[in-house]
Amino acid sequence: MKNSNILRKISQGMYVLTTIDGGCIVDAVSQISAGNNPLIAVSVMKKNYTNELLRKNSRCALSILGKDVNPEIIKTFGFNSMRDINKFEKVETIEIENLNVIKDSLGYMVCEIIDTIENDTHILFIGKMIEADVFEEDKEEMTYNYYQQHKEELLKVTTQKGKTAWVCIVCGYVYYGEQLPEDFKCPICGVDSTKFKKKE
Ligand SMILES: Cc1cc2nc3c(=O)[nH]c(=O)nc-3n(C[C@H](O)[C@H](O)[C@H](O)COP(=O)(O)O)c2cc1C
Repeated sequence: MKNSNILRKISQGMYVLTTIDGGCIVDAVSQISAGNNPLIAVSVMKKNYTNELLRKNSRCALSILGKDVNPEIIKTFGFNSMRDINKFEKVETIEIENLNVIKDSLGYMVCEIIDTIENDTHILFIGKMIEADVFEEDKEEMTYNYYQQHKEELLKVTTQKGKTAWVCIVCGYVYYGEQLPEDFKCPICGVDSTKFKKKE
C-alpha cells in the first residue's frame, strides 16, 4: 500500500456509543439506509468491553459530540475501559429508553441492533434507529479529522513532577520509569515503544 493515510480523508464524526453498563468513543459510524427507521452501522473493536456488552444487549445509543465538547468526555470514554472505571460516574448523562445519553452532546440516536458482520478485529453492528433527538441545532459537530488535528491541545497530558514519564503520542497514556522497555506496548491503544515521547 503506497499510503493508507488516505483513510483519514474519509470524513467521520465523533460519537459516544453507549449500551447498558458501558460505552466508548467511536468514529466508525455510518448511515446506511433512509426512511422512517434508517439503518446505522457502527464498527466496534472486539477487544473493547463495549463490544462484549453489545453482543448481550439489543439496544445502543449514539451521542453526537460537538466541536466544543468537554475533552474529559473523550478522555473518559476513549482512553479508559469500563472494565477498570465506571465512566458514567465521571460524565453527566440523561436516561433515554433505559440508556445513558451524554448530556454535553448535540443530540442522540437510539438503535435496535438487528444484524452484525464480524471480521478478525471488529464487529460491525447494524442498528435500526428507533428514537432520536437534536439538543443543539446550531452547534457544529466534531469530525474525526478535527479531533486528529487538535488532539494535542484537547488531551493536554500532564505528568507528575520529578518523575521521568513516557507519553504515548497516539492516546496520551503515561508510563513512569527511567527506561521504557523496548517491547512495551501501550495498554490503551496498542502502539509500540517507538510511539512514546520522553518527558522529564
Ligand atoms: C478518537 C477516537 C476514536 C475511536 N474510534 C473507535 C471506533 O470507531 N471503534 C472502536 O471500537 N473504538 C474506537 N475508539 C477506541 C475506544 O473508544 C477505546 O478503546 C475505549 O477505551 C474502549 O472502552 P471499553 O473497553 O469500555 O469499551 C476510539 C477512540 C478514540 C480516542
